[in-house]
Amino acid sequence: KPALKTLLSPFLVGAAVNQQQVDGSLPQDAALLQQHFNAVTPENMMKWEAIHPAPETYHFAPADALIEFANTHSMAVTGHTLIWHSQAPDWIFENDDGSTVSRTTLLQRMQSHIATVAGRYKNTIKGWDVVNEALNEDGTLRASKWQQIVGDDYIAEAFKMAAQAAPDAELYYNDYNLFAPDKRAGAVRLIKSLQAQGIRIDGIGMQGHYSLTHPALQEVEASIEAFAALGIKVMITELDVSVIPFPGEPEDGAEVSLNVAMDESLNPYPDTLPAAINQQLAARYQDLFAVFRRHQNSLSRITFWGVHDAQSWRNNWPVKGRTDYPLLIDKNRQLKPFATTL
Ligand code: G3I
Repeated sequence: KPALKTLLSPFLVGAAVNQQQVDGSLPQDAALLQQHFNAVTPENMMKWEAIHPAPETYHFAPADALIEFANTHSMAVTGHTLIWHSQAPDWIFENDDGSTVSRTTLLQRMQSHIATVAGRYKNTIKGWDVVNEALNEDGTLRASKWQQIVGDDYIAEAFKMAAQAAPDAELYYNDYNLFAPDKRAGAVRLIKSLQAQGIRIDGIGMQGHYSLTHPALQEVEASIEAFAALGIKVMITELDVSVIPFPGEPEDGAEVSLNVAMDESLNPYPDTLPAAINQQLAARYQDLFAVFRRHQNSLSRITFWGVHDAQSWRNNWPVKGRTDYPLLIDKNRQLKPFATTL
């Protein structure tokens, strides 16, 4: 049986995974992972709210299970993610009386979190998404609580703390819509500024939450080239291709509320994907991989955001309960035939 990791060689081929897929509760998914992938990223288990839900509480068991699974099956692990505005519990930013913490306190909390989490896995995690989604669409820094309380240098500080906690791990910046020229320029500025300060950054993750028509291939390619020119590794992270268009919305769900009513336009293919649409999906994946392969010397890893269609986050955004078909393994856990053409 063809395996993705062979078909898509020389890229490392990753999948985002959840606890049940690696702790023995979902043996069919574990078998798919072993067969097809040589890299894994925790979809949710290492996010701050999951791994460090309360000041004195760390919840390491799920992440430990992931590491054990990955070690057993010789898979590279990407840590996701140390500093992100989302899934970050309110307590991080508050004093006991509910007032906002000072810069000094927040830096101490960052330091302690990064030292504890990145430190625990310093020999077992290949690389960390140190900072996730810090840029606005216009390329300026997002006014997150991190940015507002610490200042723009929270990113530099996070990378320094990560380098100290896990000196042998690679350190990445990860974001969505990095194909877009303004956001691309913002990422280039950010990375150059870290490099100019002598702060180590080893790579950039371009999240690939794409659709059948969006983004333009030339934009994806221009960003791969611009980032590779900075002398860092470039990775396609979080790849999935939605077959359901969202006119007028950004490709990523960060700002979109789930309070939208479900109608047919949001769930057009509830049972099976029409063959004609599957053909468009195949062509889209072929086009994307043609770009990736042209740049295979610059691209070290391609990670899909999920193992198979049935458990993709795309089924739950922007409305829960949709049926999307975004990955290369279908909801019956079969490799899609067009995967052999990529
Ligand atoms: O685990 C709880 C469960 O106990 C509870 O009953 C249920 C009720 O809704 O929620 C479950 O948590 C959900 C979690 O996924 C696990 O399924 C959260 O509500 C939900 O918000 C969370 O969504 C994740 C989202 O990030 C937010 O963290 C998606 O699975 C995950 O695919 C998505 O991944 C992000 C990347 O980290 C960053 N880039 C964008 C990407 C897609 O949004």
